[in-house]
Amino acid sequence: MAILTAEQVSFSYQGKHETVHAVKELSYAFDCGELYAVVGKSGSGKTTLLSLLAGLELPTQGQVLFQGESTAQMDCDKYRRNHAAVIYQSYNLFPQLTAEENVMYPLLLQKMGKQDASQRAREAISRVGLDSAHLRRYPSHLSGGEQQRVAIARALAIRCEVILADEPTGNLDEENTEKITDILLGIAHEQDRCVILVTHDLSIAARADRVLELRDGRLQNPEA
Ligand SMILES: Nc1ncnc2c1ncn2[C@@H]1O[C@H](COP(=O)(O)OP(=O)(O)OP(=O)(O)O)[C@@H](O)[C@H]1O
Ligand SMILES: [Mg+2]
Repeated sequence: MAILTAEQVSFSYQGKHETVHAVKELSYAFDCGELYAVVGKSGSGKTTLLSLLAGLELPTQGQVLFQGESTAQMDCDKYRRNHAAVIYQSYNLFPQLTAEENVMYPLLLQKMGKQDASQRAREAISRVGLDSAHLRRYPSHLSGGEQQRVAIARALAIRCEVILADEPTGNLDEENTEKITDILLGIAHEQDRCVILVTHDLSIAARADRVLELRDGRLQNPEA
């Protein structure tokens, strides 16, 4: 059975003066063990789709199901804490926490002990190519690419079934982009998880198991 399913999902942003139909009648079934790349022009609905899959937004029509349960019926904070880690386009690191504390935070929410959380955080931070000197730095004292990698480490450390990543390599050089893509592919294939990433980078899309193309909120290749 697919782990995550979008069924005829539409989503509109309701503004004061206009309604933006950002995602339109999108259906797709995502499986474990695969890396999916979502591509499309700026404004085509990629971030909105990720927000819907993450339960940050609820469909205006249709439904998103995780293991058969609709995001509209579940506790979405709990869903993200335990099952679907999100790497945001703008990182969303806590400015008042160090890099290590940022990665530990969701683990402590999962009631993991402080020492174990710290060890898991250090492993994840080292995995994304940052060294121990970065652990105690605050986000404002890290470069954009370093902050991005802390955000990736935070999602990796949670070890949940689904990883949703919005342009996770947008601020990285070629070498680090390749490293992060290797890690995400490894997680999907070797740990049998479902990794969905939004990217503008065609070299990443070329390495994905499946590529979903959005155009004006519609999935262009539903058979992908
Ligand atoms: N909060 C919002 N309120 C109103 N409209 C929005 C809001 N967020 C996004 N939109 C609109 O919804 C559409 C889809 O936006 P979305 O952010 O999903 O695009 P995207 O594919 O992620 O673009 P990018 O590649 O630039 O990140 C766009 O037309 C955008 O202007
Ligand atoms: Mg976006």
